[in-house]
Amino acid sequence: MKLHIARDIAEWARIAADTVMETVAGKPRPVFILPTGSTPLPLYAELVRRHAAGVSFAHVTTFNLDEYIGLPAGHPEGYRAFMKKNLFDHIDIPEGQWHIPDGLAADPDGAAARYDAALEAAGGADLAVLGVGHNGHIGFNEPGTPANSRTHVAELSEKTRRANARFFSSIDEVPSRALTLGLGNILSARRILLMARGADKADIIREVLRGPVTTLVPGSLLKQHADVTVVLDEAAAAGIQ
Ligand code: F6R
Repeated sequence: MKLHIARDIAEWARIAADTVMETVAGKPRPVFILPTGSTPLPLYAELVRRHAAGVSFAHVTTFNLDEYIGLPAGHPEGYRAFMKKNLFDHIDIPEGQWHIPDGLAADPDGAAARYDAALEAAGGADLAVLGVGHNGHIGFNEPGTPANSRTHVAELSEKTRRANARFFSSIDEVPSRALTLGLGNILSARRILLMARGADKADIIREVLRGPVTTLVPGSLLKQHADVTVVLDEAAAAGIQ
């Protein structure tokens, strides 16, 4: 595991973007797993900046980690809207090459199976870019999710719904289910980039990096992967220094 602790947000974003660029530049048709949430925003801003400076992402294929089930089409907190606003509208990945789980499918289990098959058909992920929830979830794989799980319908924990309520007008509006890539899909990625920022992530980062490997802390399973890069700021790293 490679651990980077950045001195400031600019350095954090540069290291995360450099890690992404190694895969963008190193493969003819790279496949990424991408997160939403607050954590990746400085990374996405840096990738947009690099695109404006001449970097092309036209050969990249992406699969987002997850999507809420049941948010109305075009809802600003849907992850399709999030990705367009923060990344896809500003870089040159053709629309047919980026994928978000279909949270409005009449048959969510079927949508999960189709998403899984699409990632498989693309050859699996070269790089999985991840944030981590306060309970250790990655994607929406909550504590207790099996390590070999594939794309599935996840029930969101109360803790996760409360954490995400900051994006909605009340917790009642936060969907209780989501489609998510499974831990098996994530752990099958050839490389993993785990990112965290802020003091509120210090406890879970200590558990993930220094605690036992257990499905009760899904992020801790990443320690079993052979090629993981971790990018933290000093606040998120406070518990491990
Ligand atoms: C989002 C995702 C989640 C987030 C996690 C941290 O696609 O997969 O696992 O990475 O909930 O969220 P933030 O970054 O908002 O703290």
